[in-house]
Amino acid sequence: MSTTTNSSLFSPLTLPNGRVLKNRIIKSAMSDSLGDGRGNPTPSQMRLYERWAEGGLAASIIGEVQGDPLYPEKPGNLVLDDTADSVAFQELARRGTVNGAELWLQLGHAGALSHLPISQPKGPSAMTFPEFRAEEMSLAEIQAIPEGFARTARRASALGYGGVQIHAAHGFLLSQFLSPLFNRRTDAYGGSIQKRMRLLIDTVEAVRAAVPDDFTVAIKLNATDQLDGGLTENDSVQVVAALEGKGVDLLDISGGTYFPGAPSSSERTTKGPYFLDFARAARTVTSIPLMATGGFKHRQEAEQAIASGDVDAVGLARGFVLDPNLPMTWRTSGDDPSFPRFDTLPPGGMTAWFTMRMLDLGQDREADVHRNLIEAIDEYESRDDQRITLWRDRFQAAKSPEIRG
Ligand SMILES: Cc1cc2nc3c(=O)[nH]c(=O)nc-3n(C[C@H](O)[C@H](O)[C@H](O)COP(=O)(O)O)c2cc1C
Repeated sequence: MSTTTNSSLFSPLTLPNGRVLKNRIIKSAMSDSLGDGRGNPTPSQMRLYERWAEGGLAASIIGEVQGDPLYPEKPGNLVLDDTADSVAFQELARRGTVNGAELWLQLGHAGALSHLPISQPKGPSAMTFPEFRAEEMSLAEIQAIPEGFARTARRASALGYGGVQIHAAHGFLLSQFLSPLFNRRTDAYGGSIQKRMRLLIDTVEAVRAAVPDDFTVAIKLNATDQLDGGLTENDSVQVVAALEGKGVDLLDISGGTYFPGAPSSSERTTKGPYFLDFARAARTVTSIPLMATGGFKHRQEAEQAIASGDVDAVGLARGFVLDPNLPMTWRTSGDDPSFPRFDTLPPGGMTAWFTMRMLDLGQDREADVHRNLIEAIDEYESRDDQRITLWRDRFQAAKSPEIRG
């Protein structure tokens, strides 16, 4: 049962690390695809996060920042390795934190779903499908993951970011380990949920140990994969319970995967917030502050989620692309973002449309650009094709011979 609280959408939230978020509204992680193709931030990206910060949010999270260029989600991802352009990363941190906003990096590793043209995907177990194929990671490769995430978090802290979000949702590497569908291992990292969560727990511990006490360590976790044979809510509640006491400051609840043909949260069109039932179940086993991402379209839904005590913060992705000033709008006129209606929904079309609109926002031209889903897919794919060359050019030395371009 949820209990009502005195908290409201615009009341501050103190995280376990002592950081105070100025309100409860967070721009959830989106892969904005605004990197320069060589892993570094661009002026459009800086402007986008500056606009979001100016719009009154408590925190925004940059999606899919890679510590290792070998396993990207897309060639527009940022790569925060030891050769990154630290001046550009610092400038992005500075502009994205104006107006008292927090800016966090979502630490990614796409594992079996790494972007094929620029990677040799590897995951917990070997898989072959028409749309993707992956090799099995060796024990040594698995054991290197926690320290890899920790190094990236340490760099983020040194460059002026206030936190990181460990990406353990949506079917990417850490989510693959949690999921019996991807993870068929029979060693210490596969089998029971205790074993499947081991890599995540090791990673959280390594990241926490690598950063200052007041640096935020958040996690994005699937309530369920929404796939037959995938991670179930029962398993996921056990993961939530095991994270207690590990120094996690915020647990962001999501669901779905980008497994070919599977439902993903960013393409979902059902009405109402998606994961509040699971948040209520998670509340019973953890004291970590909770956030739910997905499906919030109306101020009233967000207010209710906070006032009921179901969650401590709400995460919105598409709403922030439609109105970058959403918190300010909700506070003043109370108007909700106007969601576009599309006649047909080709696979990936919604994600492409919202991604291209982030570019428009970063160039202050969103009022002048109109595109349908097919045009969005074309623009999105052709931009990625161009970036593949840039990516290979910069990271070629790190690649194995088979994927040199
Ligand atoms: C264009 C786009 C890119 C996304 N990229 C990411 C990502 O990099 N990491 C992530 O955790 N979620 C990503 N998501 C999912 C969102 O964070 C969110 O979970 C989902 O869109 C549901 O929230 P919404 O209904 O507020 O859009 C993305 C969503 C969209 C629309």
